[in-house]
Amino acid sequence: MKTILQLKSSIFSDGGQSSTLANEFVQSLREQGARVIVRDLAREPVPHLDAERFGAFLSKPESRTEKQAAVLRYSDALIDELRRADTLVLGLPMYNFGVPSTLKAYFDHVARAGVTFKYTEKGSVGLLTGKKAYVFAARGGYYAGTPRDTQTAYLRDFLAFLGITDVQFVYAEGLAINEASKAASLAKARESILGLVPAYA
Ligand SMILES: Cc1cc2nc3c(=O)[nH]c(=O)nc-3n(C[C@H](O)[C@H](O)[C@H](O)COP(=O)(O)O)c2cc1C
Repeated sequence: MKTILQLKSSIFSDGGQSSTLANEFVQSLREQGARVIVRDLAREPVPHLDAERFGAFLSKPESRTEKQAAVLRYSDALIDELRRADTLVLGLPMYNFGVPSTLKAYFDHVARAGVTFKYTEKGSVGLLTGKKAYVFAARGGYYAGTPRDTQTAYLRDFLAFLGITDVQFVYAEGLAINEASKAASLAKARESILGLVPAYA
């Protein structure tokens, strides 16, 4: 049985367009028997990474404080969800030309040297291999395929850093231009979803 980790990062939680599209895709996969783990970063935000938390990641077991151990347990639990999933479904709104800060905070807690990636003489190697990711990107304007689309390259780079290289994007763009562009874009995204579901096995 397939296990999906669905990450929601819209500030509007299930009310966001990225969440709505991802929910529709995930519901179809549920109906095919997939198990779904949901992490809603608006409802349960991950704290910002700071020097204290990063220090906990680097701490040695023999000198680790209880506070550092708690930070590690929290990060380990997020990573465990990723490990259990063979499929990652990400809702990705664009806010102020970038990814939601909640998603960045999440990424900062799952990028752990020796745990989700390792350094080798040839550079870094991702340790979360064999997974597929689907990204549902919602934007007010139009960016896909242009240099202003910083999100696509960033997501691809970050996921590849962890070993996730099979990444499929579905875009819903022009959502803030007018009602017609919004309706057309959502309809196109839904058509893409219909195409992705049968291919999911
Ligand atoms: C705080 C905020 C900032 C936004 N910044 C941008 C932006 O930089 N570029 C853009 O095209 N749309 C921007 N938008 C529009 C969103 O990308 C659009 O509403 C999209 O649906 C957000 O995804 P969501 O509905 O899943 O939250 C912004 C919306 C909000 C609320």
